[in-house]
Amino acid sequence: MILVTGGAGFIGANFVLDWFAQGGAGAVVLDKLTYAGNRHSLRPLEGRPGFHFVQGDIADHALVGRLLVEHRPHAVLHFAAESHVDRSIHGPGEFIRTNLVGTFELLEAVRAHWSALPAAERGAFRFLHVSTDEVFGSLGEHDPAFHEATPYAPNSPYAASKAGSDHLVRAYHHTYGLPTVTTNCSNNYGPYQFPEKLIPLMILNALDGKPLPVYGDGQNVRDWLYVGDHCDAIRTVLARGRLGETYNVGGKNEVRNLDVVQSICALLDELRPRAAGRYAGQIAFVADRPGHDRRYAIDPRKIEAELGWRPRETFTTGLRRTVQWYLDSTEWVQRVRDGRYREWIETNYAGRAQ
Ligand code: NAD
Ligand code: TYD
Repeated sequence: MILVTGGAGFIGANFVLDWFAQGGAGAVVLDKLTYAGNRHSLRPLEGRPGFHFVQGDIADHALVGRLLVEHRPHAVLHFAAESHVDRSIHGPGEFIRTNLVGTFELLEAVRAHWSALPAAERGAFRFLHVSTDEVFGSLGEHDPAFHEATPYAPNSPYAASKAGSDHLVRAYHHTYGLPTVTTNCSNNYGPYQFPEKLIPLMILNALDGKPLPVYGDGQNVRDWLYVGDHCDAIRTVLARGRLGETYNVGGKNEVRNLDVVQSICALLDELRPRAAGRYAGQIAFVADRPGHDRRYAIDPRKIEAELGWRPRETFTTGLRRTVQWYLDSTEWVQRVRDGRYREWIETNYAGRAQ
């Protein structure tokens, strides 16, 4: 049995679905169901023995304590977070409340439970913290990729709040001996990603005949990781990661944003051709994100050498699967694009002159 925070979000839902698909016996999902949380993503598991969903906040110490006593998970996998950089620019408060204070309250509840466990269970227990490469800041074109010892230099309120949560996890291991492991991964993409992030936003805007808003000059680089490969890495770190360690997880797929958008357009031209012309005609350069990090790149040699993990998907294969999933999943897409979604699109894009 595992306790998964944020299991109704993009990566968390993929992880829980994979967990059962790989033979996992049980999972309790604790999720607040913010705008980014979606129970519909977990629908294939509804009613399945061993699957439990609880709507609640990671900062609710009493609730977390109750769930730990009731279900006795051998691990807590901590995905819950406010995760979108642009939202952290418009409203950083929620990022501090969930990513920093929420992680602190969760750690406190877990520490209280873990310290009272019998020795054998205490030894087998794990707290796995899911973090991001954005804590390392921005790379120049020729800089070496981020490795585990790269100094932290977060640039957005999102990255700073995640950096703070990483430090708390580290301190709980160092000070209290809590058996933690942390993963810092690059940009994920794949099924069930909320369409505020680059790849699903571009797929859906393209299909709707709307502009494809590329920030700045479109030359920013991200290192794309297919979500299924990330879930595999997390299972690997959970099983064999060394306590107190951090592992960088990346797909070795550095791509410029404009090339990402053009690849999506080319796939749609093939999979959903239109008489009206090619999708790339909708690309529109818009005002840049303030403080926009230029380049992220992960050096995954530690997880590869120590734990034998390797990504299976290339960007070409993973992007094709992703575009096909959004084409096939019209009901899921309809449900997430509610009034709150439309408000966010208005907030983020109205002021960006083309
Ligand atoms: P997401 O925004 O899709 O999902 C976050 C989930 O957390 C949602 O279901 C939301 O309802 C839940 N949540 C938010 N606040 C909560 C709270 N206070 N209590 C309980 N639940 C709460 O995020 P994601 O893309 O799935 O990211 C998951 C984790 O991976 C995050 O910690 C994120 O920082 C990290 N990460 C994501 C990426 C990426 O590319 N998506 C890359 C690196 C790291
Ligand atoms: P995003 O998916 O928000 O992830 P992150 O900021 O965590 O890397 O954005 C990925 C890249 O795409 C980033 O460089 C910003 C850029 N971007 C656009 O150019 N246009 C958009 O509409 C969005 C949402 C992102």
